[in-house]
Amino acid sequence: MFSGKKVLITAGPTYEPLDPVRFIGNHSTGKMGYALARTLAEQGAEVFLVSGPTALKMEHPNVQVTPVMTADEMYAACQQIALEADLWIFAAAVADYKPSQTATSKIKKSDATFTIELVKNVDIAAALGQQKRTDQFAVGFALETDQELENARTKLLKKNLNMVVLNSLRDPGAGFKHDTNKITIVKPTTVEEFALKTKDEVALDILESIKAEWACLQRK
Ligand code: CTP
Repeated sequence: MFSGKKVLITAGPTYEPLDPVRFIGNHSTGKMGYALARTLAEQGAEVFLVSGPTALKMEHPNVQVTPVMTADEMYAACQQIALEADLWIFAAAVADYKPSQTATSKIKKSDATFTIELVKNVDIAAALGQQKRTDQFAVGFALETDQELENARTKLLKKNLNMVVLNSLRDPGAGFKHDTNKITIVKPTTVEEFALKTKDEVALDILESIKAEWACLQRK
């Protein structure tokens, strides 16, 4: 099913600079997004991986990597590819906010307290979701600590996604910094829970689930 399909994947964290040496970021390693990119490439897809800063390497000939730093850069790179991609997978942990100003030289310490004003970043999945065609399929991720299913369903609707891969931080071995993940897949009419698995195995489960839902949509 994925052979010959064009796939856009976002992965990793974004870094939002405060000055030339400091940034606001998060602990995402990019492992889940990279595992999906590799698995899709192995299944014959043409993958465009827009990646925030990670230590990971991607050398598959079917994966074209665009390295980015900030959410704005990630959005700009996605816009170049989104129209022609059949499948969008938003696996990046995009920083929700960025400093309202970036100092051009290193901020020196002076007062006992220091306040940073933050402004909202673009929501890449939601912005692209507004222009999604019916022949395109979009997958988002949700990392939640409470009211997990309710929050995942809200994201599904708000971002015009076809499927949300939910990670609960309450599950040991799930989320950032692990080679394993425990997911629940939330679709408009179904919820499917999976056991704790390696991220490579989870990638296969996610792709099987995409196949099933996408095939249903195509029959409609
Ligand atoms: N996402 C995105 N751009 C953002 C924030 C999130 O593309 N600026 C995508 C993520 O890649 C993920 C989904 O939206 O697929 C949900 O991300 P998450 O951080 O869980 O949700 P938020 O919408 O940021 O909501 P909150 O942080 O309030 O839970």
